[in-house]
Amino acid sequence: MKFGLILAAGRGERFGAPKQKSILGGHPMALWSILAFEQSPAVDIIVMVADEDSVEFFERQIRERNIDKVEAVVPGGAERINSLLAGLKVLPEQGFVAVHDAARPFVRADEVTAGFKMVTTKGSAIYALPVTDTIKCVKKNLIVQTVPRNGLYRAQTPQFFPLPILHQALHKAADDGFTGTDEASYVERLEEKIHILPGREENIKITFPQDIELAENLIASGACP
Ligand code: CTP
Ligand code: MG
Repeated sequence: MKFGLILAAGRGERFGAPKQKSILGGHPMALWSILAFEQSPAVDIIVMVADEDSVEFFERQIRERNIDKVEAVVPGGAERINSLLAGLKVLPEQGFVAVHDAARPFVRADEVTAGFKMVTTKGSAIYALPVTDTIKCVKKNLIVQTVPRNGLYRAQTPQFFPLPILHQALHKAADDGFTGTDEASYVERLEEKIHILPGREENIKITFPQDIELAENLIASGACP
């Protein structure tokens, strides 16, 4: 079985509100990701993790849009890791999972399908893009050095794993007191191979209020989804 796990339980502190509910192209932002996973033939079941105050809101949205694959909308936790664990709790131990941030509304159904193809044939995989900017290490507002960017990638979501491997990685992290900022950072610690799928510049993460304008422009230009 192949599961989509959509994380939408953040507080949106930098955005100024829980951004998963803000309207983008006529839909609450998190619905874009749900629809991409719904439309991918590779996905069997979707679980959504939402902030406690939005669970009923999203259950209604999903019902009204006749979205079939969402089996549960569960409340998340204070940190992203807590939300991830809340979602994984309702999934079985076996199978494959794609973990995706609802803050990246422009993931495409064909990317979800390609990711599942990769994880089921070759193993864990994430979407990522090579860094093109010159990267500086800065301390107290002064440049310490330029970091060679060769081999540096920006991780995106979705990220795809065999469920037993993700569970094993999270158990190890709990034992070691490690917290990561994406799922791959947990799985890397198992020395598990993680393949890179070609990310897309348009698969932006909405972080600040001004990102909504950029996102609306991408929709208007036909570049997204
Ligand atoms: N997320 C979550 N549960 C949390 C924190 C984050 O499910 N406790 C989700 C967010 O909803 C988002 C994704 O993880 O889809 C990436 O997080 P981020 O962009 O940092 O969103 P927020 O945590 O909401 O924003 P901020 O950090 O500014 O508060
Ligand atoms: Mg956050």
